[in-house]
Amino acid sequence: MSLTLDGTGLFGDAALLTRADFMLALPRAAQARDRLLQMEPAWRRLHARADLLEACLRRAEEVRASQAPEFFVVLGIGGSALGNTATIAALAPVLQEWRPTAGAPRVFVLDNVDPDWLGEFFEAVPGDRMHVNVISKSGGTIETSAQFLLAWDHVRRATGSDAAARERFTITTDPSGGHFRALADAQGFTTLPVPPGVGGRFSVLSPVGLFTAAMAGLDCASLLEGAGKTDARLRAATPDQDPALAYALAHVLHMERGRRNHVHFVYSHRARLLGDWYQQLWGESLGKKRDLQGRVVHVGPTPIAAIGPTDQHSQIQLYVEGPDDKVYTFLAVDRFAREVAVPPPFADSPAFATLRGRSFGELMRAEREGTEIALAQAGRPWCRIELCRMDAFHLGAYFLFCEVATALAGELLGVDPFDQPGVEAGKINALALMGAAGQESLGVALRAEQAARAAWRLSC
Ligand code: PA5
Repeated sequence: MSLTLDGTGLFGDAALLTRADFMLALPRAAQARDRLLQMEPAWRRLHARADLLEACLRRAEEVRASQAPEFFVVLGIGGSALGNTATIAALAPVLQEWRPTAGAPRVFVLDNVDPDWLGEFFEAVPGDRMHVNVISKSGGTIETSAQFLLAWDHVRRATGSDAAARERFTITTDPSGGHFRALADAQGFTTLPVPPGVGGRFSVLSPVGLFTAAMAGLDCASLLEGAGKTDARLRAATPDQDPALAYALAHVLHMERGRRNHVHFVYSHRARLLGDWYQQLWGESLGKKRDLQGRVVHVGPTPIAAIGPTDQHSQIQLYVEGPDDKVYTFLAVDRFAREVAVPPPFADSPAFATLRGRSFGELMRAEREGTEIALAQAGRPWCRIELCRMDAFHLGAYFLFCEVATALAGELLGVDPFDQPGVEAGKINALALMGAAGQESLGVALRAEQAARAAWRLSC
């Protein structure tokens, strides 16, 4: 099996959630599952798109052979960035955090417009030693556009000509629409497609994530194979044996019982950025003002990323004794790549007695189990996603599982998990405030709205 969901801790008495209530709701969940299967969304078939994988591998090979870049710079934000950072972190050895494979370029994902960060970065990294991957599905994201102009200027200066600079860019964008598509077509930039029907937060298994993974020397084929195997098993399962459906339904039922905060507690240092990816997937897909009928519902869980056992020493007090408004998902890796024994010195010291003859893997496991038990004793619902190990295959399985579960939760909540009108509103406002053509009157109205609010500022 590529992935197992242990949902034992999700159920209990009526105050928690009974198995009987879950079974009662299962038929409506099965209908949601049928609807998703009929929809056959493009993001769910990415693992079978050999053409996209081939295009990414070919471009990576081309870039390596012609430029041998020391730095691979991703420009993008949200769904165009988070899958990249999560993948690189999950598959990279500790001392090669952003360069998972010897000889491959060091990867930087610049997903912010903070001038301190960008200024420092472009001062430090020579433009003729980098390759830049500009990722924007819509081609209209102001942050990515601004980053592109900065990177272009930097690389153009370092390489001395438009033609040489252009070689150092790949634009990953919509195949037929948007500003970056038009620019690439007009100027002759090499592009990779974000296929139609694949939104940002569901795009990690498309060229959005694959080109970076290929440049980093990661095993893209296994990533897709893990997703493909998981997809096949989810499709083949009966509704009562479908772990993605169980995950989605249980979370929705707990939400109906007031547990609207969903903690994603990863017990693997390498997996620490998966929580950020999951937060966007779950939050942006399910947090909606309107349902599919257009009614105002203001529905949605608040996803919270946590890292175990690190955050046991910062958040667990709240989780065990604070309000009962959360569901906890533990991400557990069965087999760590290494078995590190706790060394024997000071064996006679009572302070270390418990650790005698034990390993760090055992300690990690005991910490997670201890926390799961503590939550259960406090009457708090939890479940566990188990992966055999943290490798490309199981990472692909995890990505696909979470995407399917999110789409199912959207169906169950009656909202569209694939749009993001709240994000678009912020994007439009930012463009207007920056004086975008055609948005001048909106810009003026927004400034007036700001000015009309009674200011409340305190300094010290
Ligand atoms: O998930 C999403 O759709 C968003 O987070 C987008 O990825 C993000 O807003 C960036 O958009 P784009 O890729 O169009 O630049």
